[in-house]
This record gives sequence, structure tokens and C-alpha cells, in this order.
Amino acid sequence: MKFDTPATTNPIDQMKVVGKATPRIEGPLKTTGHAPYAYEHHDAAANQAYGAVVGSAIAKGRIVSMDLALAESAPGVIAIVTAANAGKLGKGKYNTAPLLGGPQIDHYHQAVALVIAETFEQARAAAELVNISYVVGKGAFDLASSRASGVEAKDQMADTVHGDFAGAYVAAPVQLDETYFTPDQAHAMMEPFASMASWQGDKLTLWTSNQMIDWSVTDLATTLGMPKQNVRLVSPYIGGGFGGKLFIRSDALLAALGARLAKRPVKVALSRPLMINNSTHRPATIQRIRIGANADGKITAMAHEGWSGDLPGGKVERAAQPSKMLYAGENRLVTMRLTTLDLPEGNAMRAPGETPGLMALEIAMDEMAEKLKLDPIEFRILNDTQVDPTNPDRPFSKRQLVECLRTGAERFGWDKRHARPGTQRDGRWLIGMGVGVAFRNNALVKSGARVRLSDQGIVTVETDMTDIGTGSYTIIGQTAAEMMGVPLDQVVVRLGDSSFPVSAGSGGQFGANCSTAGVYAACVKLREAVAQRLGVSVEDAVFADAEVRSGGKNFPLRDAAQGGEIVAEDTIEFAELSKKFQQSTFGAHFVEVAVDSATGETRVRRMLAVCAAGRILNPTSARSQVIGAMTMGVGAALMEELAVDTRRGFFVNHDLAGYEVPVHADIPHQEVIFLDETDAVSSPMKAKGVGELGLCGVSAAIANAVYNATGIRVREYPITLDKMLDKLPQMI
Ligand code: MOS
Repeated sequence: MKFDTPATTNPIDQMKVVGKATPRIEGPLKTTGHAPYAYEHHDAAANQAYGAVVGSAIAKGRIVSMDLALAESAPGVIAIVTAANAGKLGKGKYNTAPLLGGPQIDHYHQAVALVIAETFEQARAAAELVNISYVVGKGAFDLASSRASGVEAKDQMADTVHGDFAGAYVAAPVQLDETYFTPDQAHAMMEPFASMASWQGDKLTLWTSNQMIDWSVTDLATTLGMPKQNVRLVSPYIGGGFGGKLFIRSDALLAALGARLAKRPVKVALSRPLMINNSTHRPATIQRIRIGANADGKITAMAHEGWSGDLPGGKVERAAQPSKMLYAGENRLVTMRLTTLDLPEGNAMRAPGETPGLMALEIAMDEMAEKLKLDPIEFRILNDTQVDPTNPDRPFSKRQLVECLRTGAERFGWDKRHARPGTQRDGRWLIGMGVGVAFRNNALVKSGARVRLSDQGIVTVETDMTDIGTGSYTIIGQTAAEMMGVPLDQVVVRLGDSSFPVSAGSGGQFGANCSTAGVYAACVKLREAVAQRLGVSVEDAVFADAEVRSGGKNFPLRDAAQGGEIVAEDTIEFAELSKKFQQSTFGAHFVEVAVDSATGETRVRRMLAVCAAGRILNPTSARSQVIGAMTMGVGAALMEELAVDTRRGFFVNHDLAGYEVPVHADIPHQEVIFLDETDAVSSPMKAKGVGELGLCGVSAAIANAVYNATGIRVREYPITLDKMLDKLPQMI
């Protein structure tokens, strides 16, 4: 189905099932331990062996020699995969550095060997016995000192030059020119990278943990030099990904190579200390922001220039992106520069671009409001735009940012905030409030599904869509139930298998809207097939209460399948509407913090998010997405930082003891409000996404609250107490 005119009334609008707060349909399987994660497909293949990955001990250089003798003679060892016996490997589209290194080394902990043994413990012990000599090359590991060598990565984010920024900035009576720093961050998902591979002749089955099944089938086939149709990927349950699992990683490739060498199924999980340097991370950024405004608070000039680094051939973190269209203003300069760094591979992490970008921009907006003596909410409202400011012919399909800000201000008690910082106390605690805007575009990706109707009236949905803990199973089930007029418990949802139709996958917060739209399209076809079997006109047919009603007659839905199961398949495709309209999601984050006036310890006290993101398909799982994202925003603001060893080129704190993320005790009362919204331009579902929106702008709201509490402006994340101690107001 081509989606190229705005949606009108359709069965989803009944909202009998869609839009209802619904617990996850796969929840009981997970809470009882019956949902198999990637390392747990114990019964799927007999005679499994275990692989342990050896990571490079240097960041850049070459392997001179590998002595495998000790490892090979260790108890239980079956085989060892290295670049020397792996055969010729192709280059996948989504990996920057080879997933199996050697003799050239591209980054620290790049996989260089897989030791396969009878047990996990034997494999792990033998992996310690692999003896490797290296020659160490000279690498670049420090973004700040590499910054000047940055280049435009046109294919990823071309410069925006609109009007005359320089002239308008110089002429502006009120100016801001500040630079902000965001650190490298780890996805730190609960489930590690894990895969099990099994060969049947020249056909490969890989059970893994992956967000984008079709991308990963393609990359695995390319890397192994085999036809795509000979690779099957199975990933039904995923313990978090946050972008780290958009692509295959070394566990997947090495399990496949290992199983081929050992001639039996091989399981590989990356250990936690290996994961952070072996896989991808969110790259650090430096962002210079200049804003010029008239005395009345109208922005006249906006420049957002950013820098990030990656391995040769890698990606820029598009942090400056939101400044292209979040606020009005005639004159604009938005650029990102990519430098070469020999650190582990940078790539997408939850709301790539917007997350670090808004960490900077939304502090800058707070600083500018203060210079203008305006309330930070009023300043943002004053500079709202309903069109793309660099292309006035391109309106936002829906933009309720002002409503988010006003609703949030009222619900949060913004009127109790004191504009003058450092003036509110609660005993030894300094109290402050902050606001930050959330903004993330609504990407549209084609998505397919197959639906079946059985003679028992059961509707089964099959699509390679994944559920990374987000609730895909449930919203897909709700969609099929609504379309076919059956209760949710008569729908079976099967996901995450490359033998099913190719979906949008879980990425860029487009999964919810696009994958359900694909199910909608398949159900439209199934309704037609049902009507035809029953000999009624689909135009008049009403699908409700497991019946089909037409022309005064009622048929049980299952009657249509008495002559045999009915199967329908379709793919939703998007085109024109994403060109005519700018589709984005919006929100506003409100935070109250307390900062210990003696120690600088920051506690978040209250959080509120107000989101406008199209139709909310399931308020329960959508809320979970947003509170999870808000929690991640607390981590980004106050804790998370991969510490770079700029001498040796690796992330030092590469486990969950050293890489701190928030725990329950760090998280206070959280509230989420979804504004009533449908967006007829986004899809027949009229939905968008919230999974990434929820993270955008949170950390700046916290930074702004810390400033309001203390009068200390920290522009380098995370906001740890060492950055405030010498500036805290004197104790009484
Ligand atoms: Mo997202 S960073 O596209 O999983």
C-alpha cells in the first residue's frame, strides 16, 4: 500500500483496542523466564559449543604473531578462529571497522580470535592463553586536539547556510557565544551482545539479539560472501539495544565462523568488560553555539557548529541537526565536522544527533533567555515556528511545542520558580527548576507484514519487526485486533525472524508507527479476502466482535476460513507526504533538582515530560518508553561518561561498575503527559514515536535546574560535583 495522501477515517479510529492502556502481551513469558533471549535458545540446536572472544590489547597497529599453542591444548578446546583461518571476509554496509581484526588492528578490543570449547568456562579460560605480539601504531584519540582537522561529511549532514549569519549576529543587540561538551556514552543495555550459529550445509541460522533483522541478514551475508537467502536470523526477544544492536557485531560473525570451523552450533556472548570497546558508542561532541536576538527576544541569528570523531570512513554525530528547524530566525549556520579518531567505532545511540545536540542547544536557550531577561518558556514560545525556517513552503505536519510548554508549566508549578538563581533553599539543599525542549524527527520507513486467519478465528501476524523491550508485540497485536474486529487475545504476534516479511525494524523511533502501518496494510488485504470468501462487499462490511456484518447479515469471522486458512501480505510504503511536510515529534521536560550546598551532590526531585507525538497507540508502553528515556537523560546529565585514555586509546571504565547509570534510588517521581494528537500525514495509524523523543532535552532541563539552584553554569557533561565544588555559595 502506498501512503501518499493524508489518512482519512479508517478502522483504527474506532480506538476500541488501539489507544487503550494495555499490558504487554508477552509480559508473562518474560516474567516467568520462558521468553528465550539470544543466549538461551538451548533447545534450538543440538551439541552446542561455546566461543569466547579475544579482543585486541592495542588500539592501532598490527599483530606480529599469534601463539595459539597453549590455548589449543587447553582442556575442552575444539578450534580457534582468527583472521588467518576465517577465509576472505567481505565488508558489511553498517560496520566501519572489520568485526574480526588482524593483522591490522583498528581499535582497542577489536575481536582478533574466537576460542571454541566444550563449555563456556573452558572457552573463557583458554582465551586467556592466546599469546599475541603487536607493533603499536600512532593513533589519534583526543577530540579536542583533533578538532581543527574536522571535515564536512556531506553524505551524512551537509552544512545549512541560510541568510547572512555573520552579519545578523554582529548586528544583534543581544548575543550568546558559548561552547558545550558532551562525552562518549555507552548504550549499557542489560542484555549483552549474544548469538548462536548453526549451519545446515551452506545455510546458516543465527539466533541473536538484533534490532534490524533485514539490515543484519544483508550484512552477515555480505561479510560471509554468501547469498542472502541462505541466512536466517532469529531474534524474538531483545534485552535492550538503544541503537547498539542496529547492526551485527563480532558475536554474530564469530559465532557463524566458529560454527563453520567447529562443525557444530556455537554460542558467543560478549563479556561485559569486552562489550564497550568491542562494540559501538555515542561519540563525544564539542558544540559552539551562537545566538543573536533583538531586545524583544526574537532570534535573528543562529549558529550551531559541532565536532565529533570516528574511525576512518566512520560517521559524524549529527548534534547540530536540531538547530536547523527547532526555532525561528532568518539567518542560520548549522555545521558538523568529522575528525578521525582511532577510538572504538562511534555510531547511533538513542536519538543520535538530537540527544547530544539538545544537551547543548537547550542550555544555550536558557542562557539566552536570561540575557534577555525573559522567562525561558516565554523565550521559546516567542521563537516558535510552524514551518521549516529554511524552507517556508514546508510546514510541520503537527507542531504542538507551545502547547507542551504551556501544559507542562501549569502542571509542574513553573510559576513557583525563582528566576534569580541560587535563591531557593531547603535546609542544606539548594533548589532549582529547569526546562528543556524535546524534538525528534519522525522518520518513515517501509514496513511489511503477513496476517493469517485460521478456521478457529485466530489472527496471526508475522513480520520481522523486533521488540527491543519497547512493546512492539502489543501494539502490533492491538492493530490487528482493531482491524479484524477481534479481541486482543485472539491475535498471535510472531516477530524477529527473517523468514517473515521485511519490516521497518526498531530504530530511530520509527518502529511503532511504521511497523503497525505495515500490519494495517496487510489487514486491509485480509479484510478484502474475508469479504470475498463470505461473498459480501468489503466497503459495507463491519468487522466487530469476531463477526463480519454486512447487508443485515452476521457471519462469525472464522467462517471465512472454513475452506482453509486465509493469508494476506502487504508492505506500507511512504513517499510524497514526507517531502511535503516536515514531520517531527515535540515535547517539554520539566525538572526540579536539589544540590547539596556543601558537597555539590545533585539529586533530581521531580520530573515531568509533556509529549506531542501523534496518536499514542498504547499509553502503557508509551509511558514506559518516556520514563525510561527520562531516566537515561538523568544518567547523561549527571553520571554517564566513557573515560578516554588518550595515551593508549580506549575507554577505561568499560564495565557497569565504572560506567555509572542511574539506579532506582536516583530516580524520583516521574510523570508523563501525552497531548491528544493525531497526525494524518504520518501514516494510516496517525501515530509517530516517543522512544527517542523522551530522551531529547532532558539532560539540558537538569543542567538548567542545577543552574537555577546554584547559579553555576556547567557546560561540560556530565555535571559531576567536582565541576561545582569551588563555585558553590558559602555555607551559612
Ligand atoms: Mo536507534 S539509535 O535508531 O536504536
